[in-house]
Amino acid sequence: GKGGYDHYMLKEIHEQPPALRQAISGRINELATSVDLDVDLPEAYLQSVEEIQIIACGTSYHAGLYAAELLEEHADVRVSVEIASEYTFNGGRDPWRTLVLAITQSGETADTLSALREAKRSGARTLALTNTLGSTVTREADDTVFIRAGPEIGVAATKTFVSQVATVTLLTVYLGQVRDSISTENASELLSSVRDLPGAVQQVLDQEQAIKETAQAYADSDSFFYIGRDAGHPVALESALKLKEISYDHAEGFPAGELKHGPLALVTPNTPVIALLTEQTRPEKTLNNVKEVKSRGAPVIGVSSDPATTSHVDTTFDIPQCGPMEPVVANVALQLFAYYIANEKDRSIDKPRNLAKSVTVE
Ligand code: M6R
Repeated sequence: GKGGYDHYMLKEIHEQPPALRQAISGRINELATSVDLDVDLPEAYLQSVEEIQIIACGTSYHAGLYAAELLEEHADVRVSVEIASEYTFNGGRDPWRTLVLAITQSGETADTLSALREAKRSGARTLALTNTLGSTVTREADDTVFIRAGPEIGVAATKTFVSQVATVTLLTVYLGQVRDSISTENASELLSSVRDLPGAVQQVLDQEQAIKETAQAYADSDSFFYIGRDAGHPVALESALKLKEISYDHAEGFPAGELKHGPLALVTPNTPVIALLTEQTRPEKTLNNVKEVKSRGAPVIGVSSDPATTSHVDTTFDIPQCGPMEPVVANVALQLFAYYIANEKDRSIDKPRNLAKSVTVE
C-alpha cells in the first residue's frame, strides 16, 4: 500500500534514503577507497575500452547524462549519451573498444532493448544498469549491475533516478580504478559523497513543508524553466520532466548558458526559473544567467548549499553540501516541488494521463 501517503510517488520520494543505502550497501569499503560492484566483464577488456555509449530513455537518459559527466572526468574514456530511440551503431567506431551501457529502471523499455540489440549485432560488449531482477535487459546484456531501489509504482521515476546516479558513480570509481585513471583523492571524494547522500536527502525531506508552501505559491504560473551547468544540467532536465509529467504544466530544462541563445525570449514575470546553484557546477556563472532572467521580471528559485547565493534569488531551497552528489540532493527538493504543484492542481499523480510506467512499444 501507500504506507499512509496520499500517493505512491510521495511514498517513493520518502523512501529515497533507505533506497540509497540499499544501493550502496556492501559496495563501498569502510575507508571509502574502493568499490565492489560484481561486474563480470573482464578487466583486460574494460582497460581497452575507448568509448562508452550510454543508451536510455526519459529519466534514465538523464541519469546517463549525469554518468557521462563523471565517466569523462574520472574514467579516461570518451562517452556519448544517446536517447535509445535515436541510437544507431556508427560503423566507424571499433566495436571491440566500445562498451554500450543500457540504463533502464524497468529493464523492459522497447526503445532501449532495440538499441541494445543493435549494439550487440555490431559486436559491442553490453552492460545493463537496471532495477528489475529477471527483466529482459538482464537476459540480453552481457552483464548487469542492479540499482536495488526496490519496486517503484508511481509512473514518475524518483527513487530509481537517485539510485541510478549513485550506482553509476560507483561504476565510475570502479572503471577509473580498473583503468588506473582516477586519483585516490577523487575516488574517495566520490565515494564519500555517495555515502553521505542518504543523510543529505533526508535533510531535504525534512524541509518538505517549506517546499510545499513555495510550490503552492508558484502553482499558477504558465511555464517553468530549469537551468543548470555540468551535473546540474541533467538534473535541470530531470526536474522539468518530473513537473511536466505530473502537473501537465509546460516545463523545460536548459544548460544555463544556452538560455540567452533563444529560450530567454520566453521569459516573463509569469515564468519562474529554477536555478541549480549547486557546488562543483559553476554556480557563479549560473548566477549571471539568473541576473538575465531577473531583469526580465522572472521569479527565481535557487537550489543551493551556499548561503551567499540567497541574495540573488527570490526563494532558496537550502540543501546540505554533498560534493559531487549535490545536484542529486537538489533533485529531491525539486521532486517535492513538482509533487506539490501537481497536488495543488489535483492531478492524477501516480498515473498521469497518456503515460505508462513501462513503455513496451517503439
Ligand atoms: O524503465 P526505464 O528506465 O527504461 O524507463 C524509461 C522512461 O520511460 C522513464 O524514465 C520515464 O521517462 C519516466 N516516467 C520518467 O518519470
